Amino acid sequence: MAYVIAFSGKGGTGKTTLAGLAIRYIIERTGKLVLAVDADSNSCLNLAVGVDLHATIGSIRETALETIRSGSRPGGLSTEEIFDYQIKQTLVEAKGFDLLAMGRPEGQGCYCAANNIIRKYTDKLADDYSYVVIDNEAGMEHLSRRTSSGVDIMFTVSDSTVKGIKTAKRIDDLIKELALQTGKRFLIINRAKGAESQKLKDYAASLGLTVAGVIPDDEAVFNTDLNGRPVVEIPQDAPSVKAFYAILDKELKA
Ligand SMILES: Nc1ncnc2c1ncn2[C@@H]1O[C@H](COP(=O)(O)OP(=O)(O)O)[C@@H](O)[C@H]1O
Ligand SMILES: [Mg+2]
Repeated sequence: MAYVIAFSGKGGTGKTTLAGLAIRYIIERTGKLVLAVDADSNSCLNLAVGVDLHATIGSIRETALETIRSGSRPGGLSTEEIFDYQIKQTLVEAKGFDLLAMGRPEGQGCYCAANNIIRKYTDKLADDYSYVVIDNEAGMEHLSRRTSSGVDIMFTVSDSTVKGIKTAKRIDDLIKELALQTGKRFLIINRAKGAESQKLKDYAASLGLTVAGVIPDDEAVFNTDLNGRPVVEIPQDAPSVKAFYAILDKELKA
């Protein structure tokens, strides 16, 4: 069974960047195969890890349903087998990892279905990988739909503001409330500028959050993003990479 690492938090806090760096870390440190799951409908984990997305669960779902509706099931396959096959087709295979993206579901009421599909296939595929890294959607909605079942370590990412920490606390509470099967839960304070970080850490601790660490606001991340380059190209000695790797060194022990 894979070790599952997930990232949650509000939009723009750095979830995708950190999920990309976590994938890079696992490949560099363990050489084991990773399943990267982009559970954000506005898919962009693929950009962070530098691969093209040719299809998503959202984009193939209608086609799969159409195949079933039209009655043209190839070789008398069951609905489940057709889905299995088509979903496997959306997997992007890259060096050291595969990527599965939820994408934007088409039609009304399909959102839940796409969420369920991605959860089911993450569970199904998890046996084939040593690690699963999930980049969650910004809102808290997905949590109530339980896309994040069976997570070993959940990092909630916050920006370096009091408001951000408060939001992170709400997300953390929701995860706890829904009794999602989450092993460890941590807060990461991202994009810290310096002096404020101790205050924010103290504030987070006063709310009962466990702070895994603080990641500095880093020009190297900014420049990589600006040049449209994947996070794998952020220099190894960049302050953000060093800080995040130190967190993973400490917390990623199964
Ligand atoms: N430590 C950091 N230093 C500087 N810029 C960062 C840092 N972390 C994230 N960013 C930038 O912040 C923006 C939002 O990050 P992203 O990972 O896309 O957030 P999310 O996935 O939570 O919406 C991106 O432009 C990213 O390059
Ligand atoms: Mg994102």
